[in-house]
Amino acid sequence: MTGRSTADVPAVAGALPIVGSLAATPAVEAGLVEFRPETHSLPSFFMWTLGCQMNQSDSEEMAGQLLATGCIRAHSTEDADLVVINTCAVREHAEAKVIGRQGLLADLKRARPGLRVVLTGCGVREAERTGLARRFPAVDMFLRPDEEPELALRLGLVSAQAAIGLRTVSTAATTVLGGRPVSAADRLAASRATALAENRIARSSTISAWLPIVYGCDKTCTYCIVPFSRGPERSRPFDDVVAEARQVAAAGYRELTLLGQNVNSYGHDLPSEERFRHIDTERSAGRRLDLRSRPDLAELLRTIDAIHGADGRPAIPRLRFITSHPWDLSDRLIDAMAACESVAEHLHLPIQSGDDAMLARMGRQYTVAHYRDRLARIREAVPGIAVSTDVIVGFCGETEQQFEATLAALEELRFDTVFAAAYSPRPGTPALRMADDVPPAVKRRRLNDLLARQESIGLEINRGWLGRDLEVLVERVTPPRRGPLEDDTIDDGADDPGVGVPPLAGAAGEGSVALAGRTRHNKLVHLAGNPALVGRDVTVRVEYAGPFALRGRVIAGPPVEAPTEG
Ligand code: SAM
Ligand code: SF4
Ligand code: F3S
Repeated sequence: MTGRSTADVPAVAGALPIVGSLAATPAVEAGLVEFRPETHSLPSFFMWTLGCQMNQSDSEEMAGQLLATGCIRAHSTEDADLVVINTCAVREHAEAKVIGRQGLLADLKRARPGLRVVLTGCGVREAERTGLARRFPAVDMFLRPDEEPELALRLGLVSAQAAIGLRTVSTAATTVLGGRPVSAADRLAASRATALAENRIARSSTISAWLPIVYGCDKTCTYCIVPFSRGPERSRPFDDVVAEARQVAAAGYRELTLLGQNVNSYGHDLPSEERFRHIDTERSAGRRLDLRSRPDLAELLRTIDAIHGADGRPAIPRLRFITSHPWDLSDRLIDAMAACESVAEHLHLPIQSGDDAMLARMGRQYTVAHYRDRLARIREAVPGIAVSTDVIVGFCGETEQQFEATLAALEELRFDTVFAAAYSPRPGTPALRMADDVPPAVKRRRLNDLLARQESIGLEINRGWLGRDLEVLVERVTPPRRGPLEDDTIDDGADDPGVGVPPLAGAAGEGSVALAGRTRHNKLVHLAGNPALVGRDVTVRVEYAGPFALRGRVIAGPPVEAPTEG
């Protein structure tokens, strides 16, 4: 994207309870003036997180802030003093979900006048700030993604910080993108470093950790709102990322996922350094960048992989990263994936369309041939690697023939999983200048056709695992099975619920419950076992393969004691 310039808007720091650009929205502020949780009672908060892993990670950071100021977690909106909604805006449907809850939240506020609602995440865009109060009438305060580190400060909760040494970071700044003000991720790396130093990341799992390495997005996808909600790419300093990985390793995490809209372009905006002089990668597609002597994702993978435990093996056994962009999938990165023991055999590489003209209209800046070449190279380097992708159907001008080309690409490239969605026009994106001319019924039909086609491909691939013994990291006790209508496999960041896998026929021994975990190839596996297996590796013999998940029997694992009653 061209024509970017950065213009800092001076932050109003230090004032309480509300500072920064919210000062420009007095109607919104007014609702917060009363937010004065009493010191003798601990205010409780509930976080509702939508969207991708980046949002989940951001919510962990916000929850950490609130916990550090003395708040406690509530179990639901109904018993919270504060509701924080971390929104996604990738499709209209994601925003509509939150708009649809406004009535319920307004009712709750009438019943409990002390309740306050904060809306954060990609739904809060600077260019549309004036319309936010109208669209989300139950909300008292809006924070852009880059303003989230100020949550506690803006709520007036910082009076509690002196006791615990919480430092606040003023992040308010804007960047102009195509003439529109957007988020500026400039200071997020610094605020993450502070949060880590103060042990203020409330990680939601004790098994798998998220680790953001690059904020924002510099790509040119014409349909996508992310660059407008999260601003341009900003990489975290190399040593900060490695230090966080060390912390995660020391805390005993089994899995680490490096996060960014485009993790493959990590480091291009960091200063060049002598210690990275062996790095001279060139981008193979898209806008050229000088990547010489700057850290890259390959360097990060190798460095984190080299953090060893007492047994001399990688301290974090599974290292993942998401999302990759075909522009930046360099040979150096592929070689690092192949060389590092901990890097899991799974890659998420969005293709979006199987037609070159559509890819050009989408601003993806690669061709199907380029994508095919990258995939072949990675499959050669990491045999058997599982690959997932994203596809958009019904983008502006997509003909039946072009849609068929996408189906043909799925047949040819054989993805393990496809996250597909119908094109949804997003405010302010370049695609708004094109005609959204594929009728909704056609988009729906194409989406259904594509998902049906992928279902048989996924099933064929998964059947290849039948009878094999796989290492499964057990992640959770599974709640009662959900019905097919609740299949959320096309939602971003949503877990595959295992639709198509029959329920477990009885427990595998006394004290067994239904469990779920993942293989290194990121396959969801259902199994039965002792709940104490959660967080442990077990060997599972695959006995059933569905299109989205496997089911198997534990044949080896760590010894666990049967749970005692009560
Ligand atoms: N950065 C990733 C990449 O390189 O593609 C994807 C991040 S985006 C938040 C997740 C997915 O949402 C995209 O891959 C795309 O398939 C989908 N998406 C984005 N904008 C969309 C839109 N306007 N309508 C439908 N799907 C969209
Ligand atoms: Fe959106 Fe494209 Fe950036 Fe992915 S690469 S976040 S699809 S603009
Ligand atoms: Fe949604 Fe923002 Fe993620 S738009 S998918 S929450 S980056």
